[in-house]
Amino acid sequence: MKTLVTGGAGFIGSHVADNCLKLGHEVVILDNLQGGNLLNIPKKALFIKGSVTNQNLVSSLFKEHRFDYVYHLAAYAAEGLSHHIRRFNYNNNLIGSVNLINESIKHRIKCFIFSSSIAIYGSQPSPLSENTPPKPQDPYGISKYAIELDLQAANHVFGLNYIILRLHNVYGPKQNINDRYRNVIGIFIRQILDGKPLTIFGNGQQTRAFSFITNIASDIANSVNINRAYNETINIGSDKPYSINYIAKVILNEFNAKERIEYLPERFEVLHAYANQERSNSIFGKRKEVEIEEGISLMAGWIKKHSRLEKIRYFKNIEIINKLPAIWNHPSNKDG
Ligand SMILES: NC(=O)c1ccc[n+]([C@@H]2O[C@H](COP(=O)([O-])OP(=O)(O)OC[C@H]3O[C@@H](n4cnc5c(N)ncnc54)[C@H](O)[C@@H]3O)[C@@H](O)[C@H]2O)c1
Repeated sequence: MKTLVTGGAGFIGSHVADNCLKLGHEVVILDNLQGGNLLNIPKKALFIKGSVTNQNLVSSLFKEHRFDYVYHLAAYAAEGLSHHIRRFNYNNNLIGSVNLINESIKHRIKCFIFSSSIAIYGSQPSPLSENTPPKPQDPYGISKYAIELDLQAANHVFGLNYIILRLHNVYGPKQNINDRYRNVIGIFIRQILDGKPLTIFGNGQQTRAFSFITNIASDIANSVNINRAYNETINIGSDKPYSINYIAKVILNEFNAKERIEYLPERFEVLHAYANQERSNSIFGKRKEVEIEEGISLMAGWIKKHSRLEKIRYFKNIEIINKLPAIWNHPSNKDG
């Protein structure tokens, strides 16, 4: 089996690539390293540095390798920031996906596995089920939902098989903790390592359900071997929500750090979001959840061992500065 993993230098993609190799796949990774890290890439995978937005590159890769499966995990998944980088978001996350879907149709691959997101539900009561009508509220979620619809159309017209997995709040070793715009657990850990207060938008009572990477990655990799997963849309994650205040407390405890929290004005975000896992449990079997305290401790242990601290960068080329949270803005950026 020959498999393409896009975003395989990233957090989830590199774990998925590891699992595909364990399943006996030959793995090619396509990643432009905008968020990933060379050190994440499994040694047995062939790495191609490049972007899914590069149509010629994508086309030549498909011609050369004749993939059986495509696991598409490349994206810039900064949901809140996506309001302010709309063009970048749609080009990177949507058009890049379309390049892969076109080639997957032309080369009649066996299955396209797409990492969608709980963001497609927008602000609706949790637990969110796959039958909840999607109402994404930000460009990131809108692009994910557009790709879901495009895959359904490609299946209808050309018979392209897909598996859509709606992920949410995955965390664990290899996650990028140098990104100021996403991954709350990574952001908090980084703030503690930098001796800074933890920053929370709003009152911290918003809730999310967090999933430790291990079992999620093996389910994603193995999904191609489960007939019932084909042409299905499946929530995949935890259904045990925690407040952001609680997460802050667990991380502070883990690092024996003094409690210093800076509450910032609330931003435009969904307050409570977690997903019903009935379909996932029935198709993949019930995952053994790693409890949040243990998962954070495992992630912290990995970070202490593998220092990957880099300078935290601002996103260049913000398109809309209006309403951008102050801590996301570089002083040189101005609207207009
Ligand atoms: N982490 C989560 O909780 C979560 C939740 C929902 C959905 N997802 C989805 O899962 C996927 C992986 O997320 P992650 O958390 O591992 O993020 P990540 O940033 O660690 O990994 C994404 C990888 O994609 C690469 N990439 C981005 N744009 C690219 C492009 N144009 N061409 C080639 N490579 C590109 C990055 O360099 C990075 O290595 C994404 O599609 C994301 O939308 C993640």
